[in-house]
Amino acid sequence: MDLYEYQARDLFEKYEVPVLPGIIADTPEEAKAAAEKLGGVVVVKAQVKTGGRGKAGGVKVAKTPDDAYEAAKAILGLDIKGHVVKRVMVAAGAQIEKEFYFSVLLDRANRSYLSLCSVEGGMEIEQLAVEKPEALAKVEVDPLTGIDAAKALEIAKAGGFDDELAPKVADVFVKLYNVYTGEGATLVEVNPLIQDAAGNIIALDGKVSLDDNATEVRHPEHEELEDKDAADPLEAKAKASGLNYVKLDGQVGIIGNGAGLVMSTLDVVAYAGEQYVGQDGGGVKPANFLDIGGGASATVMAAGLDVILGDPQVKSVFVNVFGGITSCVAVAEGIVKALEILGDTATKPLVVRLDGNQVEEGRAILAAANNPLVTLAAGMDEGADKAAALANAAATA
Ligand SMILES: Nc1ncnc2c1ncn2[C@@H]1O[C@H](COP(=O)(O)OP(=O)(O)OP(=O)(O)O)[C@@H](O)[C@H]1O
Ligand SMILES: [Mg+2]
Repeated sequence: MDLYEYQARDLFEKYEVPVLPGIIADTPEEAKAAAEKLGGVVVVKAQVKTGGRGKAGGVKVAKTPDDAYEAAKAILGLDIKGHVVKRVMVAAGAQIEKEFYFSVLLDRANRSYLSLCSVEGGMEIEQLAVEKPEALAKVEVDPLTGIDAAKALEIAKAGGFDDELAPKVADVFVKLYNVYTGEGATLVEVNPLIQDAAGNIIALDGKVSLDDNATEVRHPEHEELEDKDAADPLEAKAKASGLNYVKLDGQVGIIGNGAGLVMSTLDVVAYAGEQYVGQDGGGVKPANFLDIGGGASATVMAAGLDVILGDPQVKSVFVNVFGGITSCVAVAEGIVKALEILGDTATKPLVVRLDGNQVEEGRAILAAANNPLVTLAAGMDEGADKAAALANAAATA
């Protein structure tokens, strides 16, 4: 989960990283009130989860509360790389002397952590990385020892800081590393980290990505940081039912058990749908990823079908289940009961492929139920073909 700048600012404060006061505002009136409260020069900043806000007109200096009102009015509603600004942060204005860059991130390729640092920070860090790569230090950080005072100094020196500045920024690097490990982050980035006119080192901007896998067990409090409005409504519904669901842009709803089986089901459905690709480049594709896991009980099946059938794009559903510990009997009963639970809301055709433990008995249950929506398929390819054909027929009807 990526955080907004104001959320990153709050986390920084918790770890004693020097930040400036900031107040969030959803309207120009609130921005004006925030500027009055902060007093002096403020900076009105778009809160969107994308970079390059300054260049896109999303960061404006305001000398008076009325200026802050006008700045917020101009920024709210702005589209920054497809992200519409719904909220701004009104931050105290800093007198910037120098702008630096610091980040620490998970380096998956090297199974390690990596710190990036440069005495030449500011908005153009991507450009710096390309045009003057030697100015951007890349220092590997051993996860076991982390960034202590000595390591922080090493990073600062590598980034080009002189002997006077290096110890001052190093102190902040250690605190930022504490944010990184303390919060289970995969990225903590500060651009710019600044030195102000009085010589203070301050984090003026913050980007933090949290590891979602850490939320449930170690950081239940991160749940509150989630932007529920921005989430896809179907994904939110699936999450509430504890389902592993990802919305995709297609017409064939997919239910399977086990991530590997579901992934390969997506492939065979996409393959089967290729023949329907018309001149418009459309065609039939999988509508989602949904792994109902090992249990596949009637309630889980009903919850899964409910989410998939709630997707207006879906024209047919392919249920592809391999009975292992859960036998095909339980799965078949699950499907029959799920359709009973859903009643009239289930209106789209279902292609079911069962295999594995007690497959004959499972198929017999579905055959006996004789639900007009359900078609049985003998194998995975056949099921994918049928589901794609049904989706195409419904789409072109
Ligand atoms: N509180 C502040 N006081 C004074 N100047 C600021 C303040 N916040 C930001 N700035 C100036 O605006 C520039 C852009 O701000 P910021 O880094 O927050 O956004 P950005 O870099 O454009 O966006 P992103 O980091 O999302 O790409 C900074 O480099 C800094 O010069
Ligand atoms: Mg920035």
